[in-house]
Amino acid sequence: QREAGDMGKRIILADPRGFCAGVDRAILTVQTIVKSAGSGDSHDSHGLPPVYVRRQIVHNRHVVEELASQGAVFVEELDEIPDEAARAHTPVVFSAHGVSPLVKNEAKRRGLNVIDATCPLVGKVHREVLRFVREGYEIVYIGHLGHDEAVGVVGESPEHVHLIEHEGDVAKLDFQPETKLVLLTQTTLSVDETADTIAALRARFPWIEMPPSSDICYATSNRQAAVKLVAEQSDCVVIVGSANSSNSVRLMEVGQEGLDARFSAADAPAKTGACGKAHRVDDASELDPAWFEGVEAVGVSSGASVPEMYVQDVIDALRGMGYTGMESVETVKENMHFVLPAELRRQTSR
Ligand code: F3S
Repeated sequence: QREAGDMGKRIILADPRGFCAGVDRAILTVQTIVKSAGSGDSHDSHGLPPVYVRRQIVHNRHVVEELASQGAVFVEELDEIPDEAARAHTPVVFSAHGVSPLVKNEAKRRGLNVIDATCPLVGKVHREVLRFVREGYEIVYIGHLGHDEAVGVVGESPEHVHLIEHEGDVAKLDFQPETKLVLLTQTTLSVDETADTIAALRARFPWIEMPPSSDICYATSNRQAAVKLVAEQSDCVVIVGSANSSNSVRLMEVGQEGLDARFSAADAPAKTGACGKAHRVDDASELDPAWFEGVEAVGVSSGASVPEMYVQDVIDALRGMGYTGMESVETVKENMHFVLPAELRRQTSR
């Protein structure tokens, strides 16, 4: 058993963490449009902004505030965009989470200049829905009710996509063995929790088919695997990410599960003070000193939509509390990169 205090107060940093390729691309899309519109007065001669963005481009408060300060105007729905925007060809960006065909059709009807920043890995799930529906399948989709990504995917075929959130929802489904069934999922789910839900689905519908490859994306799985390892060596875990960020919230849950496993093991260290808890913060200002009472090792990571500077701020704040040691847990090196949306490449190369 490790004695508390034998390695000093330290930070254990998860790697990979932070931006994924889909978030990077979505943010760069908006930045590229803002830049090509020129600096200075952010509104054109019609009084229109350089770009409208439907919904939060990525689920991070700071990213949205920063782009808004550069002139991007965020709307919830397309009807908030004036008709002059269609005439002026003002770009309208769809967020990384994707949209339903209803939204695409509405944009087309209004003649809006759409730049679709849907993450290609979300787009893949949309295409899977269309293909399986064409082939006569009913689709069980594990996702979070009301989340932008789930709304977009279910919208591809609301009558054939059956959304469930948890293992407990499996009992509500009812399919006959002659029904062709396939499973698809949201990209940012908890890998472990999804495995439990899939086991329950298989027990009830043994003929259900799995997707050709997991829909949970590489960034989600890599970040969760790293946090799991970090939590196994930490007394508490801090995840940087916004409350509406699905993957950030999942990381906090995975961190909590890792801590629970650590402190319930046979050779568990003594659980003193505030040890054993995972926390989520948008930035360093939300850190509560009470979380660190008796804590030696603080595990740190961040969601896929979080700029690294906010992690560095958290590290600086922790250093200020005496966490001067630093270790890194690196699981894999990521080298995923997505090119900018085709519509944008066409328009900026003119
Ligand atoms: Fe795409 Fe996964 Fe990021 S679906 S937006 S790469 S979290």
